[in-house]
Amino acid sequence: MSNQERFDTFFMIKTENIVTFFLETRQYTETICKPLEIEDYVVQPIVDVSPPKWHLGHTSWFFEEFILKPYKPNYRLFDDDFAFVFNSYYENVGKRVVRNDRGNLSRPGVAKVYDYRHYVTNEMKEFLQSEISSEIEEILLIGIHHEKQHQELLITDIKYILGNNPLLPKYNDSFQENPVQDVKQKWIEMNEGIYEIGHSDPETFCYDNELGRHKVYLHEYRISNKLVTNDEFIEFIDSGGYKDFNYWHAEGWDWIQQNNIHQPMYWHKIENQWYQYTAQGLQKITKEAPVTHISYFEAFAYSQWKKCRLPTEFEWEAAEENFNWGSRWEWTESAYLPYPGYKKDKGALGEYNGKFMVNQKVLRGGSVATSTNHTRPTYRNFFQTNLRWQFTGIRLAK
Ligand code: AVJ
Ligand code: FE
Repeated sequence: MSNQERFDTFFMIKTENIVTFFLETRQYTETICKPLEIEDYVVQPIVDVSPPKWHLGHTSWFFEEFILKPYKPNYRLFDDDFAFVFNSYYENVGKRVVRNDRGNLSRPGVAKVYDYRHYVTNEMKEFLQSEISSEIEEILLIGIHHEKQHQELLITDIKYILGNNPLLPKYNDSFQENPVQDVKQKWIEMNEGIYEIGHSDPETFCYDNELGRHKVYLHEYRISNKLVTNDEFIEFIDSGGYKDFNYWHAEGWDWIQQNNIHQPMYWHKIENQWYQYTAQGLQKITKEAPVTHISYFEAFAYSQWKKCRLPTEFEWEAAEENFNWGSRWEWTESAYLPYPGYKKDKGALGEYNGKFMVNQKVLRGGSVATSTNHTRPTYRNFFQTNLRWQFTGIRLAK
C-alpha cells in the first residue's frame, strides 16, 4: 500500500465514522423528543428555556448555515425565512427573532420543523458522500458537538416546561437523574506546583475556549472526592443557611430576597418531607444523591457555611483524575475568561464562545443530561451566577 493509499483508507474510515457520528447525533435529538405532546414543543416559560421546537430547528439551521449554504453546490434553502427564526445569536449572520419571543411562534408548526430537520439531514448525508476538506470536517465536528450541547439543553428545558406545570407531568420512565455516589467522603490532597491547563491533543475535538494550553501555579489545596449530597444540603437549609446574609454575596442575597428563594429549584416541602420534581414526576428526595439545580450563589453560600470554598477551574482540572465526575455540572470559583493566547474561531463561528466571556462562571464536569462523547476534563461550561435549571452541583475545596 502506498502512503497515498494508506492515507485515503484512513481518510475514508475517518469520514465514514464522522457520517455515523453525525446521523446518530441527529437521531438522538429526536429520541429525546419522543415522549412530548405537540403543545410541549411550543412554550417558553422563561427566557433561558427555549421551546423544544426551536432546538430542533436551530440545530438544523446550524448545518444549513455553516455547511450546506457555503459548501454544497446548488444547495437550496428549505425556507428563506428560517434563518430569521432559528439563528440564535450570530450577529454576523443577520437579524433574528428576539430570544424572549421564541415561544410566541405557533408557526412554523412542529410538523414543518420536522420536515426541515429531515431535509437538512438528507442534504448533509448526500453532501458527505464525497470527500470533504479538513476545514469542512472541523465545522462539521463543531456542528455535531453543537447539537450535543442542545441535546442537554433540550432535556433541561423539557424538565423546566413540565416541572413548572402545576400538574407536574412525568417525562419518561428511563431518564435517571439521581445516581447515588457510593464512596465515602475524602479530601484529596494536592501539592503546590505548576500544572498544565487546557486541551492538548490536536487529534481530538475541543472548543476554541479550551485552547491556549498554559501553566498555572497552584498552592497546596484539598478537594473533595464527592459532591455535596441532598442530605447535606438539607442541613444547610435547616440550620438557616438561606436566612443568614453572612454566607452570601451581596448580589446573591438580593437575588434570594427578590425571588423568594429558600431551596433548590424543583424542591417542594409536603407535610414536612422534601420532594423534588424529576423526569418521573414528583418523588421523595434521594438523600445520598448529589444536590442539584442550585445557582452559583447557593453553591458559594453552602461552601461558606461549611467553612470551605469552591475550587477554581484550574484546581478542578489538576485534580480531576482523582475523583469521579459527570453527574452534575460543578460550579467553580473561576470567572469565564479567555486563556492566554486565546484565538476565537474564524468568521461567524467566532461568536460561538468568545463573546460570552463576561459576567459568567465556569462549570466543570458534565451531567446526567450530557450526551455521550461530549464532555472531557478540559471542557468549560459557563452560565450566569443565578441560573439553576441545568443539573448543577457542588464540590468543595479548602
Ligand atoms: C455552553 C451551554 C452556555 O447554552 O448557549 C449552544 C451552548 N452554544 N449553542 C449555550 C451553546 C451555542 C451554550 N452553553
Ligand atoms: Fe446553539
